[in-house]
Amino acid sequence: MSSDDAQVNDHVRRAPLFAALDDEAARELRATMEEQHLSRGDILFAEGDEGSTLFVVTEGKIKLGRTAPDGRENLLGVLGPGEMFGELSVFDPGPRTATATAVTETTLIGLGHEDLDKWIRGRPEVAYTMLQSLARRLRRTNEFLADLVFSDVPGRVAKALLDLARRFGVQGDEGVHVTHDLTQEELAQLVGASRETVNKALADFQQRGWIRHEARAVVLLDVDRLARRAR
Ligand code: CMP
Repeated sequence: MSSDDAQVNDHVRRAPLFAALDDEAARELRATMEEQHLSRGDILFAEGDEGSTLFVVTEGKIKLGRTAPDGRENLLGVLGPGEMFGELSVFDPGPRTATATAVTETTLIGLGHEDLDKWIRGRPEVAYTMLQSLARRLRRTNEFLADLVFSDVPGRVAKALLDLARRFGVQGDEGVHVTHDLTQEELAQLVGASRETVNKALADFQQRGWIRHEARAVVLLDVDRLARRAR
């Protein structure tokens, strides 16, 4: 593929890897990256695998999950278009720290560590935006840890819904329509609580008129109330 053929869509353009580049450099970088398509349930890589490629989601959603020795799973996050993952094993060579699974039809582009190394050495601004993204992720993780200790499950559910809405929500007449593509089990894994407790919180929010459930989606009808509950 010539660099002119490479499609750098708006989401990709905002990804940390591309954010600091001008259009020409962005096209050049995109042309060195390989595209991959996954269907719902496909595993891109598993926790513990060796890996030296970082990925940017161009379409769809990827969940990052870890499994405890007793088989329970928790989700570190659900990533959508423009979000990056897989950089930990690239910057700090070692096994993958989570399993990456497609939650829906998904397209990704991947960059191997040798190519990444060239870009970072040649363009320090790329390193800077990558560091910024790692810093942001650490901030979010710290906040999540604090919420696990200090917030109750309904508060964490409200926060997770608002976070999904920020990334995948579309404003409609009634409220914010969020197609998260997650099962109730996956939602519970994201919140870090049992399915029963998470379902109870969701049912309570629905009964209060703050949300409405749909299959693998939710409509946020009262964002202000949810935000107050999330605090
Ligand atoms: P890597 O360890 O290569 O593969 C799994 C990826 O999950 C990891 O790189 C990160 O990109 C991503 N990841 C790890 N921890 C978190 C986290 N706490 N929040 C979001 N993403 C994470």
